[in-house]
Amino acid sequence: MLLQRRISRCLIRVVPFLVVFYIVFSTQNGVPPDPPPKNSTRLTGETQEPFSGSLTAIVPVTRSSLPSFKDTLATLTGPSTCVTKVLVTCPEPLLAETRHAIQRAVRVASNDQQPDITLHPSPASSSSVFGTVSTLLETTDRVLVLDEDGFEGLSQRTRQSLLCPAAGNIPVGPRGVVSANHSCAIPSIQPQKAVYLLPPFTIPASLVEPADSWAAVGHVVSRSLGNKLGGLIQSFGDVDSRHCGRQLSSLDQWQTPRPPFAEMYAPSNGELGVFVFLLPSRNIMNLILPMICAMHETGHEVKVMLYSEVRASSAVWGSSTCYLQYESFGERNEEAVMLHRMQDWMEQQDQRADVVFALNELPRLAAWNDGTTLIRIPREDLQFSHWMGTLSLREWLHWNVPRIDVSVITQDRPQSLQRLLASLSRGRFFGDTVNIRLNLEQSSDIETIRIVRDYMWKHGSVFTHRRVVQGGLIPAVVESWYPHSDDEYGLLLEDDVELSPLFYVWVKLAILHYRYGEQRDSSRNLFGVSLYQQKNTELHPEGRKAFNARSLFAEHKIKNPATPYLSQVPCSWGAVYFPEHWREFHNYLANRLSEAKMEIGQNVVPDVRSNNWSRSWKKYMIELVYLRSYVMLYPNYGDFASFSTNHVEVGSHVKERPKEKQDAFRVPLIELDEVWRVLDELPGKSLPPYEALPVVNLTGFLYE
Ligand SMILES: *[C@@H]1O[C@H](CO)[C@@H](O)[C@H](O)[C@H]1NC(C)=O
Ligand SMILES: *[C@@H]1O[C@H](CO)[C@@H](O)[C@H](O)[C@H]1NC(C)=O
Ligand SMILES: *[C@@H]1O[C@H](CO)[C@@H](O)[C@H](O)[C@H]1NC(C)=O
Ligand SMILES: *[C@@H]1O[C@H](CO)[C@@H](O)[C@H](O)[C@H]1NC(C)=O
Repeated sequence: MLLQRRISRCLIRVVPFLVVFYIVFSTQNGVPPDPPPKNSTRLTGETQEPFSGSLTAIVPVTRSSLPSFKDTLATLTGPSTCVTKVLVTCPEPLLAETRHAIQRAVRVASNDQQPDITLHPSPASSSSVFGTVSTLLETTDRVLVLDEDGFEGLSQRTRQSLLCPAAGNIPVGPRGVVSANHSCAIPSIQPQKAVYLLPPFTIPASLVEPADSWAAVGHVVSRSLGNKLGGLIQSFGDVDSRHCGRQLSSLDQWQTPRPPFAEMYAPSNGELGVFVFLLPSRNIMNLILPMICAMHETGHEVKVMLYSEVRASSAVWGSSTCYLQYESFGERNEEAVMLHRMQDWMEQQDQRADVVFALNELPRLAAWNDGTTLIRIPREDLQFSHWMGTLSLREWLHWNVPRIDVSVITQDRPQSLQRLLASLSRGRFFGDTVNIRLNLEQSSDIETIRIVRDYMWKHGSVFTHRRVVQGGLIPAVVESWYPHSDDEYGLLLEDDVELSPLFYVWVKLAILHYRYGEQRDSSRNLFGVSLYQQKNTELHPEGRKAFNARSLFAEHKIKNPATPYLSQVPCSWGAVYFPEHWREFHNYLANRLSEAKMEIGQNVVPDVRSNNWSRSWKKYMIELVYLRSYVMLYPNYGDFASFSTNHVEVGSHVKERPKEKQDAFRVPLIELDEVWRVLDELPGKSLPPYEALPVVNLTGFLYE
């Protein structure tokens, strides 16, 4: 076995394919300055007249696109094409197979006006996005630029618009980055102005210049046309914006001018570590550049291995505030081969990695355990992961330690339950296992039971629990969760709560920072993390009063009124409770209910309205918090934006549902596309030291 592995490793070493590139990524001047507009070109697909000159298609073939290549070719040579010439490029080793595929396609083609098809080897290291064929484009009028995905995911009409484009001097295609806000175009039949297009698109041959990225192509176009326009995006009924929506949106946020990351996201100070990023390709790396660069600027040693990157080109964007080196195998490999090669590469590094960051789609990587902290993130969460760039080495090393259990408490509000579960499913969990416990009261109705039965949860296990004797709200909540270890945290959710898709970001960030970060930031007094922002204080003896943390802090001249803060009020509308404190609460409650030391009706906390609450677990939690000076962490985003909200629905505590009451408690949720807010609105763009957090008492007064 071992011998076999040695041999296969040797074989791999024989192929001296490790290509090393240097790239410079900038956080400044990412977008070239716009020339003044000249109004020289008309917008919209320009004219609807079909284009009448010669049209050349460029089709790159790679190992992974070879199987679908014949479909691409069939589309290009089909009956309704205006393509007059097809230039196929592929790496040397694929020449024979590609030639075969072409021959087969020509044989079955029914069109007598067949375009010419020629095949061109592409060297492993070409830095032009047009490949090596740009010199062959002189005799053509317009070029149809494809990437290895061909026409995949495009509607018939969009394909047609590419195969027989309308006349005009602007590049046009269904995918790209819009100039309005530098984010990915949402497919639309209305033409949208682009900073640059992504393949497939058609472009006048006169605008084709060697360029090393699609962004650079857009720059050439807008410079040549002098109208700030890198192309037009027009799509006819495509449902999928795969290229863009998922892969580019954060890249483009990143490319818009921002100050250097070191200034933006004050890194937690502390020790420095060695981080290895194992990623498939440059596109994927681009999604997490903000994170990688932030860590690089912090001073961590950052190494990037792109194991399936075939493009041997590099991108240079402006100045050099973030200078990264990546290595690549220069070709795609089977997973097993890749793992061997990655392992070899890791062994060759002079420093041992503290943290290895990879995608969770390599199942065998999970078993690869050499003592480093392995972090595996789903591809679809990468573009929401920039917040990880502020984690300190200690926090990174504890990434896999805390476990957050979700405990849902429900009875007979099926619509509410459905809404809560749907919001949970929309959450982003960054590859973490999150188990759910669904607690049903004895009196739960059939609809509620059906919803529970049908709920699918893909991030962990679902445990259901139903009472046989009605418990009432105190046991329903208090018994809904109990920690197994000191690294288990309980997110308690009554069913009238709804979550932000980013709630887990806030929870994980806060728990890593205040529980596993620097010693000075951990306090025994912190008993939980609220997802919800207080908009009212309920505990004044006179009744509810409006509460606004930002104005309170501004009044008291606190340096940054937008800081998260500590409050003694336990939140019951979406909050995580810490294990030691929850166990203590169980003991406290058992004692208190037994009336061994004092009568149940006696007050513990002077002058708070909760003394008059009956059947409330929170009343007793308030007592414990008061006796022990415990505090809960609260978010403090603009407009009360929160990671959970409460819909104030009729239930055990709420008898009717006046609009005024709903308005008093409902807060906006931080949505997925607002992920930047999570850090951007924090003072210094990261969680403050524990000592710097303002503290508010049960009735909303600031401790000074
Ligand atoms: C540019 O074109 C727009 C729309 O066609 C027109 O409203 C505007 O007056 C033009 N501007 C100049 C400077 O010609
Ligand atoms: C960017 O602008 C486009 C069109 O102007 C719009 O549809 C899209 O929602 C915007 N995206 C963001 C993230 O603001
Ligand atoms: C609390 O309840 C007591 C007895 O039921 C009552 O006398 C008192 O007025 C109530 N206090 C408030 C603030 O509602
Ligand atoms: C909160 O602080 C204020 C001002 O110091 C005080 O009057 C109030 O009694 C405190 N509330 C509680 C519940 O201790």
